[in-house]
Amino acid sequence: MKAIPLLPVTLAITGASGARYGLRLLERLLEQGRQVDLLLSDAGRIVIARECGLTLTGDGPDVARAILAHSPALPKAAQDALIHHAQRDWDAPMASGSRGARAMVICPCSMGTLAAVAGGLSDNLIERAADVALKERWPLILVPRETPLSIIHLENMLRLARSGAVILPAAPGFYQGASTMEHLIDFLVDRILDRLAGGF
Ligand SMILES: Cc1cc2nc3c(=O)[nH]c(=O)nc-3n(C[C@H](O)[C@H](O)[C@H](O)COP(=O)(O)O)c2cc1C
Repeated sequence: MKAIPLLPVTLAITGASGARYGLRLLERLLEQGRQVDLLLSDAGRIVIARECGLTLTGDGPDVARAILAHSPALPKAAQDALIHHAQRDWDAPMASGSRGARAMVICPCSMGTLAAVAGGLSDNLIERAADVALKERWPLILVPRETPLSIIHLENMLRLARSGAVILPAAPGFYQGASTMEHLIDFLVDRILDRLAGGF
């Protein structure tokens, strides 16, 4: 019997703290053999530089190359499976519901992007792709990080959860005896991958 190919994943990294979750998730998705369409907000690039020491400039292959150079252990096939799209590339496949089903993860998700998605703004490719995922009922996972949470944050999350999104806060558990930051990051990334595996 032929194996059913895994859905492509749109991964958006926005400007909340926790860029390492996003980059680790990217590695793990590529290791699974998934196609990953990567979207970066401007603030996401700033946080990646500050928290991961990785400066990402330009768009498209430049970004993909820099990320792959940062993760030398990734398989060669990852080079073709990672595609970066600019924030105004309205022709990108995730900007339309008619270009085939895909899952989307926003990790980490800033409160700004979360609010924009909850409000249906679609003012950049991240917001548009999330809007498409919601209307098409495709899997959409948001990984917010903020503390404390205002009533506005909480109401936006409730609105998104009611619309079918999964709100998966960047809140790793300590009960598995994590002794390093890498363990905590993998704890959270495993939870995201579990959700993706559940039928997506
Ligand atoms: C180093 C750094 C850390 C930040 N951490 C957070 C955060 O944890 N959560 C959050 O919602 N915003 C955080 N921000 C603020 C967002 O980056 C800012 O609101 C930005 O407008 C979000 O834009 P984006 O949603 O397009 O990425 C942080 C900004 C910087 C520079």
